Amino acid sequence: MKNIVEQLAERLKTAFEACGYEERFGMISVSNRPDLCQYQCNGAMAAAKQYKKAPFQIAEEIAAQCKTDSMFGKIEAVMPGFINITLSNEFLSNVLSGMAKEEKLGCPALPPASVVIDYGGANVAKPLHIGHLRSAIIGESIKRIKRFMGDTVVGDVHLGDWGLQMGLIIEELRDRKPDLVYFQKDFHGEYPKEPPFTLSELEEIYPAASAKSKQDKEFLERAHRAVLLVQNNDPAFNALWKHIMAVSLPDLRRNYDNLDVHFDVWKGESNVEPYIKNMIDDLEKRGIAYESQGALVVDIAEEKDTKELPPCIVRKSDGAAIYATSDLATILEREKLYKPDQYIYLADKRQELHFTQVFRTARKAGYIKPETKTDYIGFGTMNGKDGKPFKTREGGVLRLEYLLKDVEEAVYGKIQENRTMDENEAREAAKKIGLAAVKYGDLSNQASKDYIFDVERFTSFEGNTGPYILYTMVRIKSILAKYTEQTGVKPDAAITYTNRDYSVSETELMLAATRFSDMLVRAAKELAPHKICQYIYDLSNAFNSFYHENKILVESDAAKQAQWIALILLVLRILETCVELLGFEAPERM
Ligand code: ARG
Repeated sequence: MKNIVEQLAERLKTAFEACGYEERFGMISVSNRPDLCQYQCNGAMAAAKQYKKAPFQIAEEIAAQCKTDSMFGKIEAVMPGFINITLSNEFLSNVLSGMAKEEKLGCPALPPASVVIDYGGANVAKPLHIGHLRSAIIGESIKRIKRFMGDTVVGDVHLGDWGLQMGLIIEELRDRKPDLVYFQKDFHGEYPKEPPFTLSELEEIYPAASAKSKQDKEFLERAHRAVLLVQNNDPAFNALWKHIMAVSLPDLRRNYDNLDVHFDVWKGESNVEPYIKNMIDDLEKRGIAYESQGALVVDIAEEKDTKELPPCIVRKSDGAAIYATSDLATILEREKLYKPDQYIYLADKRQELHFTQVFRTARKAGYIKPETKTDYIGFGTMNGKDGKPFKTREGGVLRLEYLLKDVEEAVYGKIQENRTMDENEAREAAKKIGLAAVKYGDLSNQASKDYIFDVERFTSFEGNTGPYILYTMVRIKSILAKYTEQTGVKPDAAITYTNRDYSVSETELMLAATRFSDMLVRAAKELAPHKICQYIYDLSNAFNSFYHENKILVESDAAKQAQWIALILLVLRILETCVELLGFEAPERM
């Protein structure tokens, strides 16, 4: 389905041509004076220069050309040469019923692309931190948006499962339980199936080991050596590594499930170990990488750079693989498996240099095609009310489940105030609304910006919040249910509207609904879920003004009432689609 701007532009172009001007002047934009008109064409002004005529005269000719066209309710030339356009009711209502007939509500089919999105990044055995929460929320939304637009998307959690934390945990374990078979040089039997620690022990071991490594150099060195042994598949350390993974992964999965974040691929840095040796050899042999102070590096600086960019280290001087090594090897694997047209990575904005280094090295080495898109979405920090990185009640790093619980409790408290539902339903609703509060609170900000996590504000049922959007949806659902109850008619969004005058709030709501596809195309192109939030906030406001102005359920004109019902059903479907793309859903009641 062509959007309104395209349809109008097509018509205006024909008009410019028919009047003897180049058709390119028929450009349309949404009006910046919504009090005067809905759309405008400024082409007469540009044409005036070329044809040495008064702009107003040209505008008048164009308006006269279009006047009788059923698209336009009003089309007029205004000084100095604008063409102001208001759509006819017939046209506007046809656009809406056209949208309603399509599963994707009028979204155009764009050429499908294959996309890999890397948006988990949780580190095994380390507590999830706020960055991982943001990455999961934003990445999940972008994945859903891309899919909706018809792309084939693979979402990979890309766990940090290969890093120093593994060495630290292993060496701390050695200090605590030196008798374990894993630490006995002469042990050649089979390693135990049971892990030598529980999840809560593991959660305590890592912070202790990390603190110790800051005081104790010898300990840190041991940990580094242990990492190397894990990477080189030492049987004992490999067995320990597997235990760490087995204990940690189910917990991570549970955390992501609670967020309604779902990965197609559960791989990590460790999975690409088999690619590393060949890759390093290849980079060295082709002279792309060279040795510098014992490490192996690739120059990535380019002339256009405004600041000096250091080379990408692909192997440390002790021979260990590092962050960039595994990211490059991961690109090799992804090229082999998916050959994507686009890579999208989410990580906090302090990792910008790392991704510049990795992308440029991959291009320089020819691991990705020149036309392959590489996007890195560097997001800002989630701060507490004190403006510092968010801490939980206990002052510790984030335990995601505590954070979600806190928000859920706050919502539950609000639902309790005017309670009409039983305990179960209230708990279920609080869960959905709480998740919406957290996700919307995050996604309504441009990703790169820092924002303040404010439970009070995020859970408010009024203002630019997730719960406000859900509340609007619930309100529409309730009107639709009552309508069916009263009339026995099932709401239908695709009806043909009868021609009549629309009130201002009604027209506003109709226009807001028609903007859905344009908005979504833009959000997908710019990888910007905050555009969806902005849009549904506007749409909800437009609905609520309409609702307060019109008594839908007591309207005596049945045809008019059916149109209103059709309109709000369409609005509901748009809102449902949008919140689904943001990663949450509405309860039945709230
Ligand atoms: N594990 C990393 C971290 O915690 C994030 C990983 C982001 N993805 C990537 N392919 N580097 O900072």
